[in-house]
Amino acid sequence: LTKLRIAIDGPAAAGKSTVAKIVAGKLSYLYIDTGAMYRSLTYKALKSDVDLHDQTELTKLLETTKIELEPSDKGQLVYLDGEDVTDEIRQSKVTNSVSHVAVHSQVREEMVKRQQKLASEGGVVMDGRDIGTHVIPDAEVKVFLLASVEERAQRRHDENTAKGFPSDLEKLKEEIALRDKIDSEREVAPLKKADDAFEIDTTSLNISEVVDRIMSLVERIG
Ligand code: C5P
Repeated sequence: LTKLRIAIDGPAAAGKSTVAKIVAGKLSYLYIDTGAMYRSLTYKALKSDVDLHDQTELTKLLETTKIELEPSDKGQLVYLDGEDVTDEIRQSKVTNSVSHVAVHSQVREEMVKRQQKLASEGGVVMDGRDIGTHVIPDAEVKVFLLASVEERAQRRHDENTAKGFPSDLEKLKEEIALRDKIDSEREVAPLKKADDAFEIDTTSLNISEVVDRIMSLVERIG
């Protein structure tokens, strides 16, 4: 049985991590959330008062930063220099800063190197923005997930509300749209569907419908 590499890209809050975790579970593959790596560096930079626009300082910081992704029942635990930051990296301060960190070419170069190492043996489901275009351009399965901004903001809003967190739908819409804009317009490895990626608009699909579509792509190849 071949151990495939499955790349799942798409804009913010399109449901990538939710479906990637399920697909990885079904195949007993490793799930790798590359956004968590950019978030971890952002969290550390904010804590260490490093200017997010200073590429040299950020790159230096990353060189001495250990980011470990560990599979768990919840999907994935994130360790930053040995400390569990799984929840901390989802704070809105981090969410709204991370795209500024992710524009820097030297930061991306190092992240991509680490990601390629993690994917090198196959049997992975990796989600992000540039997985199918840059990190694993020869991935056997490439998926691009889309949904309208309204739908994505509404899903985030429902998640927040269910968890008892304060949530402002209009603000979420603005934040998601801004993050997409920065991610799509950056010079290095912008958010973009790979030419050979299979596009799924999830706006009117539920999670299991999206998972089923990805599994049928996998079955066709595997
Ligand atoms: O996937 P998630 O929303 O956690 O990603 C957070 C941010 O990290 C993205 O908005 C983007 O700026 C950056 N990112 C990236 N390339 C990746 C994954 C994430 O630039 N492969």
